[in-house]
Amino acid sequence: QTDVANKTVLVRVDFNVPLGDDGMLDSKETFRIDASLGTIRHLAGAGAKTIIISHIGRDKNESLLPIAEYLKTIIPIRFIATWDMEIIKSAIESMTSGEVLLLENLRQNKGEEENDQKFASRLSTFADMYVNDAFAVSHRPHASVVGVTEFLTSYAGLLMQREIANLSKVMSAPEHPFLFILGGAKFDTKITLIRKFEKIADEIFI
Ligand code: 3PG
Repeated sequence: QTDVANKTVLVRVDFNVPLGDDGMLDSKETFRIDASLGTIRHLAGAGAKTIIISHIGRDKNESLLPIAEYLKTIIPIRFIATWDMEIIKSAIESMTSGEVLLLENLRQNKGEEENDQKFASRLSTFADMYVNDAFAVSHRPHASVVGVTEFLTSYAGLLMQREIANLSKVMSAPEHPFLFILGGAKFDTKITLIRKFEKIADEIFI
């Protein structure tokens, strides 16, 4: 447990959820967002100034605005719809203890996917510490996942801890019968996962 009262905490979450053709968030697609609320609520409740960062989609023009609108129906947040560093800086400077800020789609910055050191260092100037709560994107060597940890003391978020604990259970000593159910997009990226669980699970369901 770390004392976060009045500290500024940069939290990498995975709000990469599919949006409808109308650009709106479907109420059936909020699972990932809801799963991150534990860490955000915990930090805000402990008096931290919480800055949430995430990517969404593969199109650089995609915005986190629909996610911000959804979040606002659950917790008070302020959405900064720009990567203009001056605007971000002054928004952070005006933050008060317990406040939550959501920044725009990280991938609007070239430096994010390139794990550019300058961009990572810029991100690190926003906060006193860093929390990774984005298990689903932790295989990406991006600035907000890898680069930033070179500059800030880094912690695993509550969701990250839960995902690791649950996955470790099924990887090391799973109970049988063990049915492995796999879903999601980008199927070609999941072949190695199937090969791995082929040896552990009794049945694989795709
Ligand atoms: C995911 O949804 O799998 C993660 O957010 C990673 O997204 P990416 O494949 O676009 O990097």
